[in-house]
This record gives sequence, C-alpha cells and structure tokens, in this order.
Amino acid sequence: MRVLVLHGPNLNLLGEREPHIYGKQRLEELNEAIARAAKELDIKVTCEQYNGEGAIVDALHAARSRYAGVVINPGAYAHYSYAIADAITAIAIPVVEVHLSNIAAREAFRRTSVTAAACRGVISGLGAAGYVLALRALREITAPSQRRKERK
Ligand code: DQA
Repeated sequence: MRVLVLHGPNLNLLGEREPHIYGKQRLEELNEAIARAAKELDIKVTCEQYNGEGAIVDALHAARSRYAGVVINPGAYAHYSYAIADAITAIAIPVVEVHLSNIAAREAFRRTSVTAAACRGVISGLGAAGYVLALRALREITAPSQRRKERK
C-alpha cells in the first residue's frame, strides 16, 4: 500500500519556526519518523512539501492513480483554500488532514478548516503522532481492492 504525505506551506521551516507551537523537530526528522512508522505498518510512504497552492493541487491530482491514500497538512491553506478542498473532493482516494497544533484551540481564523470537510477525517493537536495515526487510519479504512489499484 502506497501513501503520499503532503506537507503544506512553511512546514519546511519546522524546528526553527515557532518551536513552542510546532516543536523542535525538523521536517527531515519528522519525515524519518513517518518513514519508520510506515515501515512497521507495511506502507510505502513518500513525503513531499510544497509552499504553493497550485503545487499542492497538482500533487493531489497526481496522487489519485499512484497512491491508496494521502495524509495532508495543508498548513494555513486549510483555513481558506477552496482550490485544495476541491482537489481533495475531486480525487477518489481517501485523504486524512493532520495539524501538528490543535487548531481548535488557537486564533479564530485557524478554528475553521475548509479543507477538512473534503477529507475522510482530521487529526489535530497531537504533533508528529498525528501523522502516524493518520497512516494507521488509512490502513484501516482502505479496502484491500483499493490498495491494489495503485499503479506499479
Ligand atoms: C498547522 C496549523 C496552521 O494553522 C498553520 O498555518 C500551519 C501549521 C499545524 O500543523 O498545526 O502552518 O497546519
């Protein structure tokens, strides 16, 4: 089973960006932790990071025939990108939204996620563990037949 992990804008600065909110772990280290967890779950994971909205839309489109599911942290785009929400709706594979911080407990503008409604589920506030839980969730909710559909 193949899963794409998509990190959105500013997540390339993890570790140095507001560490009191997002932690001290760098994106590279987070991706290593995700890869370790994926291996244990027998998932082939690919991690990508894009700052641009269009690049994220393109990555979601490309994922539809290559992956059984997507884990996405849309960053601030979660709060206003209808283009990303539409792209998630447009693809048939399940998408799980992850936020490192608990967006429900932060500034008012962060409490709404327009992309969340297009996703199968959302995990928010659990830090890096959220990505691992999202992988487990995708394994649970993805039917074996759908897993096999991925292009070799
Ligand atoms: C974030 C939360 C967003 O509000 C913020 O813009 C981010 C990171 C999170 O992982 O907690 O860039 O998605």
